[in-house]
Amino acid sequence: MVYQLRPKVYAIPTNDWDRRLFDELIPLPEGTSYNAYLIRDEKTALIDTVDPRKEEEFLNTLKNLGLERIDYLISHHAEQDHSGLIPKVLSLYPEAKVVCSEKCQEFLIDLLLVSKERFLVVKDGERISLGEKTLEFISTPWVHWPETIVSYLIEDKILFSCDLFGSHLATTDLFAREGVKLAAKRYYAEIMMPFRTIIKKHLERLAQYPISLICPSHGPIYDKPEFILELYKDWVGDAVKNEVVLIYVSMHHSTRRMVEFFIEELAKQEIQVKPFNLTVTDIGELAMALVDCATIVIASPTVLTGPHPAIVYAVYLANALRPKARFASVIGSYGWGGRMLEYIKNMLSNLSLEILEPVVAKGYPKEKEFSDLKRLADSIYKKHKEIGILKKEQ
Ligand code: FEO
Repeated sequence: MVYQLRPKVYAIPTNDWDRRLFDELIPLPEGTSYNAYLIRDEKTALIDTVDPRKEEEFLNTLKNLGLERIDYLISHHAEQDHSGLIPKVLSLYPEAKVVCSEKCQEFLIDLLLVSKERFLVVKDGERISLGEKTLEFISTPWVHWPETIVSYLIEDKILFSCDLFGSHLATTDLFAREGVKLAAKRYYAEIMMPFRTIIKKHLERLAQYPISLICPSHGPIYDKPEFILELYKDWVGDAVKNEVVLIYVSMHHSTRRMVEFFIEELAKQEIQVKPFNLTVTDIGELAMALVDCATIVIASPTVLTGPHPAIVYAVYLANALRPKARFASVIGSYGWGGRMLEYIKNMLSNLSLEILEPVVAKGYPKEKEFSDLKRLADSIYKKHKEIGILKKEQ
């Protein structure tokens, strides 16, 4: 499909309704979409391509547009869901130059074997005149690879943001509605959260540009840019909520009993708990919960000498996603020994967390462990109080 956004400016969104996994890692409960954009001025600029899974559909769309020539193929980001069809487009449009950052050039040569003479490398702030319209390139590294840039169409005040502000959502809605918030949060949590600090700086920079449309490369377009800009400000900000994310697995009910008891104790303190039993958890839901919780508690049985492997996976992800949580603890059980606690603590090295006294039971939990869990719930309450996030204080 092709939609006209402004005179000479078009969106080419391509839905991937059935895709359920991205990077063989990220669940896509609502599919995804890959958006390319086109500016047909005296010069023609194609902004990104789409995933090679959609080659036929995308190339047919270009053909049906009667495009005889592409002058500039803007590549914001070298990941293949946007760059994958660049070699194909270059072979069909021999005049086209790939416009990208120097780092992106390096990646496109390495990943897609694009030859060096096809590039026009641009620096931060550089502009290209297309005729009546002008594109300015803004360097925004680490959203979410090191080479990423965004571009700004000066006359129409349109920001083409590639992955930044994206959402994995297949939809026939061209423009974002209220419901996109969850998909955008999921996307932020899974893709952008590790780069929270640098994104905060990029947002400050982008605030200097008047923006009428934000055109991301996944999900709907924002015709009310403040909607997504405000959400991002909140997500990248330092404020946390009065929430405990409780990640757990239980094999023989000991850890489960501790988890159940602990949830009740936290609830008595009016702390919201989001429990995730890893045997049934959608990892994207867990990532979303990590965006603004104040505390993470990990509950694991001991398998051989360490945590349950599902816990290892989830803790690895939590550490890699770098949520802004302030406090953490571990609860769990063991039969005859092991180093479950030590493994988990060592795996959280990326996070600036204050670790609260863990509670580990030998076998089924007994009076002492229940009393220790009560104490842990109390100390979470005190910590949340100290940082001023208890409900009554909100
Ligand atoms: Fe949508 Fe990082 O690619």
